Amino acid sequence: MATALAFPESETITEDEALAAKPCRAAYRHKIVSAEQALRVVKSGDRVVLGHACGEPPVLVEALVARAPELRNVEIVHMVAMGPAVFARPGMEDSFRFNGFFLGAPTRKAVQENRGAFTPCFFSEVPRLFKRGILPVDVMLLQVTPPDEQGFCSYGLSGDYTQAATEAAKIVIAQMNANLPHTAGIKIHVDAVTWIVEHDSPIVELAPASVGQVEHRIAEHIASLIPDEATLQLGIGAIPEAALLALGDKRDLGIHSEMFSDGVVALAEIGVVTNRKKTINQGKFIVTFLMGTKKLYNFVHNNPAVELHPVDYVNDPCIIGQHRNMISINAALQVDLMGQVNAEMIGGVQFSGIGGQVDFVRGTSRSIGGKSIIALPSTASKGTISRIVPTLDAGTAVSTSRNDVQYVVTEYGIADLRGKTLQQRAQALSAIAHPDFRDMLQGQ
Ligand code: COA
Repeated sequence: MATALAFPESETITEDEALAAKPCRAAYRHKIVSAEQALRVVKSGDRVVLGHACGEPPVLVEALVARAPELRNVEIVHMVAMGPAVFARPGMEDSFRFNGFFLGAPTRKAVQENRGAFTPCFFSEVPRLFKRGILPVDVMLLQVTPPDEQGFCSYGLSGDYTQAATEAAKIVIAQMNANLPHTAGIKIHVDAVTWIVEHDSPIVELAPASVGQVEHRIAEHIASLIPDEATLQLGIGAIPEAALLALGDKRDLGIHSEMFSDGVVALAEIGVVTNRKKTINQGKFIVTFLMGTKKLYNFVHNNPAVELHPVDYVNDPCIIGQHRNMISINAALQVDLMGQVNAEMIGGVQFSGIGGQVDFVRGTSRSIGGKSIIALPSTASKGTISRIVPTLDAGTAVSTSRNDVQYVVTEYGIADLRGKTLQQRAQALSAIAHPDFRDMLQGQ
């Protein structure tokens, strides 16, 4: 007689019924456990790595957090946290120590209050920390799709460092989620997974950033730098979103980007993004992680034109530089008069991280016809603070160095800094500062 399998938060079906629906399930059914059972393997002192961004497995993280009273000093390594990051909340610090390569709203405070840590690293180099054993991985928690008939699962929305950490981990626990879009590119075989937890959680969505007048003006300047047939990298936030809205009259754009969101889908639908003229990976959107709404997830699901690859491929400056007319578009918090870019700290305190900004700035400089664009509103705090500054705040890290920077764009125009002297840079940057601050800057 068939035994009954309990599916969390869904109906109970028999094992025979489950196998009839998915015959390949026979190959891994001995690995299927509940989240609570799987997470029992975590020991005090372990390093646990979480799948990146939308690749974070919510039921596994929940089951790990539920063990807080019995665990001590478990390091949780993560990058962009799209979940609630309960492990980084006050009171959790004895059980879990957060260590991030990038901070966001749910994790920033933990680092600021010394309940967690920040590790600086170019996004392209994060996989090496795991592959080379610099950060040995005890347990990897990730989301995967159900497997195909050969037993291969898609990594879904996060390839980035997720694949490297999975391959390096002593124990791999996967939440197998049928809601996860099945993307082409890298795959993981069920044999490589230690425990499987079947649970179809909803996929986290990221609403498009709201775009105001300032961003629209910045976007017009950005669009003027982008030729037809260019290949684009776009960061996250209002400025890349606005830039996409300004590209409707371009032809045959391509995408090679660490991420992309809904705005790219809109351009693909009207035939502006075709990937036809890319120098390498022609016809393909190449990406390392994806965040957006259902519109994006439906677009990438089972779409052979969208390939997910690890970040040490996508963000490798030598790969990026092989594209002709490769253009990177990233945001910043401050730029000083030498052209040093701060994209990650406010008031000397870590706000986000470097992500792939420098990977792409360096890649585009190798590209024939390539350009890197750093774009930012000229002011912050309702116009009271200039983001073009004589010097960066004390204790602020330089994200993109003055040797790497090329175009800086605000709503007041474009400063082309490459090959310019320090005096010429100061002039060019003062000229695109908010008029209220130009005298102060020109007096430096
Ligand atoms: N001084 C004080 N406050 C500042 C400031 C400054 N110089 N610059 C920005 N702020 C404030 C803003 O007013 C805003 O506050 P609010 O939320 O209360 O309005 C907040 O800081 C965030 O600034 P904003 O310009 O809206 O940031 P963003 O969401 O567009 O993100 C980066 C910009 C630079 C933080 C973000 O792109 C990032 O983290 N980049 C990392 C590197 C990168 O580019 N990676 C590759 C792509 S992922």
